[in-house]
Amino acid sequence: MLIRRARKEDYPAFAAIEAGQPGYPAWGVKGFEAEERNRNSVTLAAELDGQAAGFMNFWVLRPQVQLNTLAVGRAFLRRGAAAALLGKLFEYAAKSACREIDLEVNEHNAPAIALYASRGFEVVGKRPKFYNNTDAALLMRKALPSKDL
Ligand SMILES: CC(C)(COP(=O)(O)OP(=O)(O)OC[C@H]1O[C@@H](n2cnc3c(N)ncnc32)[C@H](O)[C@@H]1OP(=O)(O)O)[C@@H](O)C(=O)NCCC(=O)NCCS
Repeated sequence: MLIRRARKEDYPAFAAIEAGQPGYPAWGVKGFEAEERNRNSVTLAAELDGQAAGFMNFWVLRPQVQLNTLAVGRAFLRRGAAAALLGKLFEYAAKSACREIDLEVNEHNAPAIALYASRGFEVVGKRPKFYNNTDAALLMRKALPSKDL
């Protein structure tokens, strides 16, 4: 498993991963390209078997990090790619002297909620009808104690 900065050549693979997850908000190639113009934005790729197996994007808005998107290709699920991407995110957050990581997740997205809970995120709020005016978003946060900095 290799976690590295994403490159332009990865974006079609990222778009295919999004397309394989019905209902997941898709950025598409253009969305990932647009992030290159945001200097607070970091996009990471998880490589498995020499392929881009998953991705993550977050914004470093010190003292906060906002996790915007994270997905793994269906062929690569449950092999630790998301956990490895989150591990790298925690390193970035600590190096950037950030105190918390925030994200939104669909209330019915059990795999993602289990992933985040297992990595120390807690539900701190709820936004009703956030997705397509139907499903609520759970706001989850991981506090980073100063001893980790
Ligand atoms: C959520 C998602 C990113 C997890 O990716 P993954 O690479 O399969 O996850 P990992 O293999 O790193 O799993 C790490 C832990 O997360 C939890 N987890 C992951 N998938 C799970 C599932 N389907 N059911 C229950 N728990 C799950 C487990 O605790 C797991 O640890 P374990 O394998 O030791 O039991 C993936 O299912 C996905 O891409 N979903 C669609 C996109 C999405 O919903 N993204 C989150 C947006 S907020």
